[in-house]
Order: sequence, then structure tokens, then C-alpha cells
Amino acid sequence: MPMTAIVLAAGEGTRMKSAHPKVSHKLLDKPLVWWPVNAARQAGASRIVVVVGHGADEVRAIFANDVDVECVEQTERLGTGHAMMCVRDALGDFEGPTVVLYGDTPLMRAETISNLVEHTKAGHYACTVLTMSPADPTGYGRIKRDADGNVLAIVEHKDCTPEEQATLTECNSGIYCFCGSRLSANIDKIGNDNAQHEYYLTDMVGIYREMGEPVSALLASDDSELLGVNSRIQLAQVTKIMQRRINEGLMASGVTMLDPDQVWVGAEVTVGQDSELLPQTMLWGDTHIGRDCVIGPNTRLTDTTVSDGASVEETVALQATIEANVTVGPRAYLRPGAHLLEGAHVGTHVEIKNSTIGRGSKVPHLSYIGDTTMGEGVNIGAGSITCNYDGVFKHRTSIGDNVFVGSDTMMVAPVAIGDGALVGASSCITEDVPAGALAIERSEQVMIKGYATKRMARLKEQKAASEKERS
Ligand code: UD1
Ligand code: CA
Repeated sequence: MPMTAIVLAAGEGTRMKSAHPKVSHKLLDKPLVWWPVNAARQAGASRIVVVVGHGADEVRAIFANDVDVECVEQTERLGTGHAMMCVRDALGDFEGPTVVLYGDTPLMRAETISNLVEHTKAGHYACTVLTMSPADPTGYGRIKRDADGNVLAIVEHKDCTPEEQATLTECNSGIYCFCGSRLSANIDKIGNDNAQHEYYLTDMVGIYREMGEPVSALLASDDSELLGVNSRIQLAQVTKIMQRRINEGLMASGVTMLDPDQVWVGAEVTVGQDSELLPQTMLWGDTHIGRDCVIGPNTRLTDTTVSDGASVEETVALQATIEANVTVGPRAYLRPGAHLLEGAHVGTHVEIKNSTIGRGSKVPHLSYIGDTTMGEGVNIGAGSITCNYDGVFKHRTSIGDNVFVGSDTMMVAPVAIGDGALVGASSCITEDVPAGALAIERSEQVMIKGYATKRMARLKEQKAASEKERS
């Protein structure tokens, strides 16, 4: 039977003090609710249902492109049991192992979910509850067991006697695996006769006990996986744990970090062996780094590919492609469509947008290159730019192979510079330059012998005279 995961994410999260739903807040580069959905996916869930409520549209939008995720809206928040009833009403009966996760509990590992499912299947349990023993159990539902250790019920903190609150320390994590068919057959037995007048999903355990259906509790091996996020302080704590988990995974696979506390790597980023990530580096989204690269310090790469042996220093890049042995920075800005071919160099205070920089070509200092196709072996002098925008339209610049562009050149697009051409420094190029030609656009230099010396003498005389007058 294929497994289903239901991620409860309808809550408001008032303690976030936010105009946005709690589960839309980011943990590294992904919204909180993305993490349990992804863990369920990795654990083999073929159907993933997210229960949305507060800020429903914003949460739905997160999964707009995920074909394996369905959202069900819970318009009234009448409790976790009610949330599951809404799913049943919207999608029909539960089938196969049905795992319940929380959208605000992002550290849950796929293997923990798999273990929970395997345990439930092996024991033919109607339900297995994942439990924990936190240092402070205040607020959590408590697990009641009989003298033989069998699970009797889950009692919410507010429904416990003071004695139960003090002695029952094993807590409900809120994560379960249910047998889908038995859950469908019995979920309507949940009532709301309790302290909060809510439909508690936890009541299923007691209901099954009375029916003689087998239920089980599995103590989680790593409590930190069950940490929930209710405030921005907890969001930062959970982020730190996830950052360490990801970075330790990378280091174990052969990536060097001078200080892993100062490196942030997103959920889907990959980094090749013997690459080094320096402090204040952030790698987000669909970013992939090859082998033997040096990235950072002070670098943020988003949806960017970097091939083997490249070095990217103090750079911000978005949707860029950096091929093997390219050097970038310090202080470069690569915008969408920047494609640096093998061995190219983009240096300091250089911005590249929607342009190909050919093999071994160099744009070393203070340049803007936009909407340009550049061949190989080109050298762009300091301060040279493409003028690609006329205020309304963007135009392309084409630069052939082995072109040498002198410093402070304006290339007013649309314009083409042929192979092997030479452009004199400080030219404003508005006409195409044929291959092999020299283009210079520059007024003649004027020379007046002795002028500077005479001028300085005159100014000094004036200064001396005015000081004399004042004294
Ligand atoms: C729940 C459990 C408690 C457990 C604790 C662990 C119940 C009745 N209690 O309590 O035993 O120890 O989790 O954290 O289940 N939600 C909805 N719709 C609703 C209500 C809640 O989607 O109508 C979502 C919330 O957004 C949240 C999760 O379910 O992500 C938990 O809900 P909450 O009401 O906070 O339950 P707890 O009081 O934490
Ligand atoms: Ca000029």
C-alpha cells in the first residue's frame, strides 16, 4: 500500500508576530512547511496532503509547482482531529499507512518517518504515536501506559490532573502513523468534550484501546527532530540545528569549511569533493558547486551552477552559470543569464547580465556587460561598459574572438566588434568595428608647454598676497 502523509499547517502562529502564516517563514532557503513535506517525500510518500487554513493562499502558493502535494483547506480550526476529518471529507477515505506531520516541525528526518511506518506495518497497529521525553513537558499531551507498559491513552496537558502533569513525562510528539482504513472507519468517534472544546486527534488512541485495536508508542531517538517553531526565537534555534546538520553532512562528504557556523547551505544545494566554503557564504535554491572550487568569503549564490576548479570570491550571483576554472571577484555581481565559459575571469566591481563571456576572456575591473555575446580570448579594459538600454529597449552587443577593448570604452548597442579588433581607450563606439580593425573615438590631445608651471606660480603668489592682507 502506498503511503500518505498529511501535514497539518492551518494554525495561525500568533507568537510569530507576523502578517504571514507561520509555516511560510523561511528556514534557510525554504518555507517551514516545505521541510516536513520533503521528508515525507524522501520517506516514500506517494500522496502528500497539506492542511491549510490561516493564510491559505500563501501556503498553497508554496506548493503550486509540486504535483505530488495537494492542499485541503480547514476553514475553522476546531482541532487536530477536525483537521483530519476535513481531509477525509475533501479527498475520501484514508488508505494505507497514513502519517501525520506538523508544518511547523521541520527537523523531522525521512528515516524517522520510514521507521514509524515500518513499525506500524510490522505490528499491524491501528496507530503508532511517536513520543519524546522533553526536559519540560508543560503543554504537551501525555502518554498514559498500563502496568505492562501498553499505551492506554494520550491526555492533553490541560486535561491532566496535577498529579498526572507531574508524573507522566513521556509526551506526544504529535506525529503518528495510522492504518488508513481503520482511521477512516473510526475518526468520527472523536468528540470535543474536553478543556479546549476541540476535536483532538489524540483521542484516537483511547478509542482504539476501548475497541481492542492494537496501538503502540515509539520513543523518538533524537528529540531535536520534534522541535516545533512557535516564535522567531525558536525559528533561529531550529535554523542553527538544520545548518549544522547540512554542513556536517557536507564536511563528511569531503567539503572543507573554515567556520561552519558562518556558512549557510540550502536544502537542495550540492557541493563537490575538495571544494572549500569560506565564511559568510550562502548557497541557496538550485545551486550546484563542482569539485575543487573555492567559494567565499562573503558570497551569496542563488540558482547558480559552478563547475570544477572555479573560484568565486565576495560575489553575489543569481541564475548564473560559472564553468570550470573560472575566477570571479572579489566583488562581482552576476545576474540572470550570466554565463562565464571555461577559464574566463570576471573581476572587481564587475556586473554581468544575460551575457556569455567566452573561454579565457577577461573582464577584470569596473565594468558592466549586459546582453552581450563575447568570444574567447577577449580583454575588456577597466571601466568599459556596454550601453545596452536606450530607455525603452534593450540591445545586444557582440564581441568577437581575441578582441582588445581599451579602458573606459562605451559600447553603444546594438553594436558588433569583429574578431581580433582593437578599440582605443576612452572610445564611445556607436558603429560596428570590422574584424582586425582599430577603432578610436577620441578628440585630439592639446599641449601647451610650461602652462602648468606658470599657473602654479601665479596661484601661489595670489595666496601669499591674500594672507598678507589678512594679517
Ligand atoms: C498537539 C497534541 C499534543 C502534542 C503536541 C505536540 C492534540 C490534541 N494535541 O498539541 O498531544 O503533545 O501537539 O506538539 O493534537 N492544527 C491544524 N488545525 C487545527 C488545529 C491544529 O492544522 O484545527 C495544526 C497546527 O497548525 C499545528 C498542529 O496542528 O501545526 C498542532 O496543533 P496545536 O493546536 O498547536 O496542538 P498542540 O496544542 O501543540
Ligand atoms: Ca571618450
